Amino acid sequence: MRKELKIGLFGFGCVGSGLYDVLNKSKLLNASIDKIVVKDPLKQRSLPEDQFYYDPNVILDDPEINVVVELIDDADAAFDIVTKAFKKGKHVVSANKKMIAEHLIELLTLKDEYGVSFLYEASSCASIPVIRNLEEYYNNDSLAGIEGICNGTTNYILTRLQNELKSFDEILKDAQDVGFAESDPTLDIDGFDSKYKLQILILHTFGLITQPEEVLNLGIRYIKQRDIQYAKEKGLRIKLVSFARRIDDKIVAYVAPQIVDDQNFAFEINYEFNGVSIEALFSDKQVFIGKGAGSHPTASAVLSDVSALQFDYKYEYKKFDECKAQMAKDAIVKVFVSTEQVDLLEKVDFIEVEEEFVAVDYAYKVGRLKLSQLSHTFYRENPELFISFYGDNDIELLSLREEFKESVTV
Ligand SMILES: NC(=O)c1ccc[n+]([C@@H]2O[C@H](COP(=O)([O-])OP(=O)(O)OC[C@H]3O[C@@H](n4cnc5c(N)ncnc54)[C@H](OP(=O)(O)O)[C@@H]3O)[C@@H](O)[C@H]2O)c1
Repeated sequence: MRKELKIGLFGFGCVGSGLYDVLNKSKLLNASIDKIVVKDPLKQRSLPEDQFYYDPNVILDDPEINVVVELIDDADAAFDIVTKAFKKGKHVVSANKKMIAEHLIELLTLKDEYGVSFLYEASSCASIPVIRNLEEYYNNDSLAGIEGICNGTTNYILTRLQNELKSFDEILKDAQDVGFAESDPTLDIDGFDSKYKLQILILHTFGLITQPEEVLNLGIRYIKQRDIQYAKEKGLRIKLVSFARRIDDKIVAYVAPQIVDDQNFAFEINYEFNGVSIEALFSDKQVFIGKGAGSHPTASAVLSDVSALQFDYKYEYKKFDECKAQMAKDAIVKVFVSTEQVDLLEKVDFIEVEEEFVAVDYAYKVGRLKLSQLSHTFYRENPELFISFYGDNDIELLSLREEFKESVTV
């Protein structure tokens, strides 16, 4: 039986107004938006003014409203709204990856306590239906890894940097002008947005809850045209990749630029598109590609969650209940590190170097180092260094290498 859904909508920006459009165009749903709460009473709206409210309690205290759709751009206010909605027994749909990634345990505990459903398909790759697939389809297939281009802004910037001779700042400005980048682009270009999405994917892939500080995020802020040139000359491309792989019962995960060849799923995913590659034990790799942002594409995933609520759908988190995996303490990864301050390269602690170039004003090394060291401020916040992972993520657990060394010594 389809349940009647009475929606209280928070936010009427890019995604909220998109949901209003797609819901009205969809005849299949037994759902209506009853009230809309926004923030700024002075803003011009595309709907009559009397349809908008500014007090969250107008929705939260309305016993007729059984679903809250939270589509606001403030993670702290969103957490407050979502937790209050749970406590009032309302189901919640959200697209807010920052809020979800920062509060995974509290949100899951609370929604269980109040017996409500919490769906968030749009939070990870907008229009790409990856979370529901991970929950339902791949449930019995042992998953080995997941990789994604989960941020349209950085993919747009990197694609244009690779196709044009413009500088990073010029392209970032263009991206802001066409609405692909926020006025404060930090969350996107420093890899935080991709990391929050990766944390959600890790939960639904391996059943593991992670804290933001457990997952390294390196961004693209310090990329130089010469780095792009290096990749181009070898027929390679640089992409910002969210990566998680299971090795035994350890999960290695990070967000970082990655130099990929044309065999990698990410190579042909360009501009604002997103893509996710899921690697399963028996089915091998499968790739989903779609729009990772935008009003109607993102709203379509929100609509799909709303539609699922008609049939009382809930994520079951079976993998979480059975999870034995833990984050790996450390791993050895292959990276490309470049700088225009040539002396600085000596301070990078490589275990092995495979390729090296030094000129007066530009130098790079390709080699292996410990993943853990990239979390140090020296690497993360040094504008003189650009760091990219290299190749098809040829990763080794540090603990396995040490065990091997010990067995050889004995
Ligand atoms: N845009 C995308 O393509 C996309 C893709 C995937 C996920 N998301 C996620 O979707 C969510 C919404 O993004 P968006 O792009 O639609 O943002 P947006 O265009 O900036 O709109 C934000 C909306 O939230 C409202 N708002 C902010 N604080 C509020 C509060 N405390 N109470 C009530 N309303 C509040 C704003 O009200 P006013 O109108 O009064 O300012 C505005 O209507 C975010 O979590 C974002 O990460 C977006």
